[in-house]
Amino acid sequence: MDKVSVAVIPGDGIGPEVTREAIKVLRAASEVHGGVALGFTEYPWGCEYYLRNGRMMDERGLDVLRDYDAILLGAVGAPGLVPDHVSLWGLLLPIRKSFDQYVNLRPIKLLRGVPGRLIGKGPEDIDFVVIRENTEGEYSGVGGRVHVGTPFEVAIQSNVFTRQGTERVMRYAFELARKRQKARRVVSVTKSNACNYSMVFWDEVFHAVAKDYPDIEAVQVHVDAAAMYVITRPEWFDVVVATNLFGDILTDEGAAIQGSIGLAAGANLNPERKYPSMFEPIHGSAPDIAGKGIANPVATIWAATMMLDFLGYEDMGALVISAVERTLLEDGPKPVDLGGAAGTAEVGDAICESLYRLAG
Ligand code: NAD
Ligand code: IPM
Ligand code: MN
Repeated sequence: MDKVSVAVIPGDGIGPEVTREAIKVLRAASEVHGGVALGFTEYPWGCEYYLRNGRMMDERGLDVLRDYDAILLGAVGAPGLVPDHVSLWGLLLPIRKSFDQYVNLRPIKLLRGVPGRLIGKGPEDIDFVVIRENTEGEYSGVGGRVHVGTPFEVAIQSNVFTRQGTERVMRYAFELARKRQKARRVVSVTKSNACNYSMVFWDEVFHAVAKDYPDIEAVQVHVDAAAMYVITRPEWFDVVVATNLFGDILTDEGAAIQGSIGLAAGANLNPERKYPSMFEPIHGSAPDIAGKGIANPVATIWAATMMLDFLGYEDMGALVISAVERTLLEDGPKPVDLGGAAGTAEVGDAICESLYRLAG
């Protein structure tokens, strides 16, 4: 039997609540599938760890993670206790960068059984994938502050776009459009009317890469218009390629048209598999509902299916997604963010039951 090792970082807020359910569902899936043994090792890194140890993760944390097949992450952030830029730059962002997880793949898909939020748009209209550049751009971490606290203080945050970094993520998007066999269209999100260096460069690389894919339509759209089209004509999108910041914002908007951010999943991929990839929900630690047991675990469960897909167990991933859809379609427990009253664990249990039933 295959063995897969997964490092789990539950993190902060609702992170531990939702990862618990994802592991529960993964265990059930591996039981009914039978072909793979999943081993989970939890690491207690996050804001509480920071308050005790002065750092977000173990000093050797990245070396420890490197040996795993995959990483499953809940959420990071405890505003009020640890400043967000400290917590995120101490755990999540270093993992994405150090492990060269340059593709942030975020499916925007309205599942069957989820009430849509856009009038007249159903599951057949809302089904696209955002490929977000995940290691550079606006989140390169280059900048500084001088004359701090004085009236002539200066703050600079620089965007860094490299040819290699831009080209490889665009190539990934075009390859995916070929594989999906849907509209065969890649939409590049830009803002080259105002960002006259970085985004003009982004556009040039996009059109150069597009030449290698004459069978795929290549369209560039400014981010402001793209934000509108996500609402007015989601069916037009197939594969979207975007910078770190634009992809971040557009995928929270995407999460909204999926029905709830509690459903939206993502994968941080190192496509070359030199380093482990990391799977996580799009949402954060949701301090407003943390500890109440009402967070929707589906986003993290869906992220776990993306992990199964990436590791080559697509049949197992598809089984879990079917179990999620069936749970949402049936008259069973509905999560609170979808207008129901079911708690996090209740939703996880119902998905496990659907899974056992589906597997016969
Ligand atoms: P958030 O995603 O945590 O919450 C936004 C809203 O969505 C809140 O109303 C919350 O209750 C709701 N929500 C989120 N997940 C939900 C779920 N599973 N079920 C039901 N409702 C859910 O974003 P925020 O409030 O901007 O950030 C809170 C903290 O999380 C901050 O510290 C931020 O930096 C951090 N954050 C971390 C990540 C990550 O770890 N990947 C992502 C985003 C934000
Ligand atoms: C996300 C989050 C992170 C990001 C933050 C918490 C740094 O918003 O995963 O979407 O912007 O990448
Ligand atoms: Mn985000």
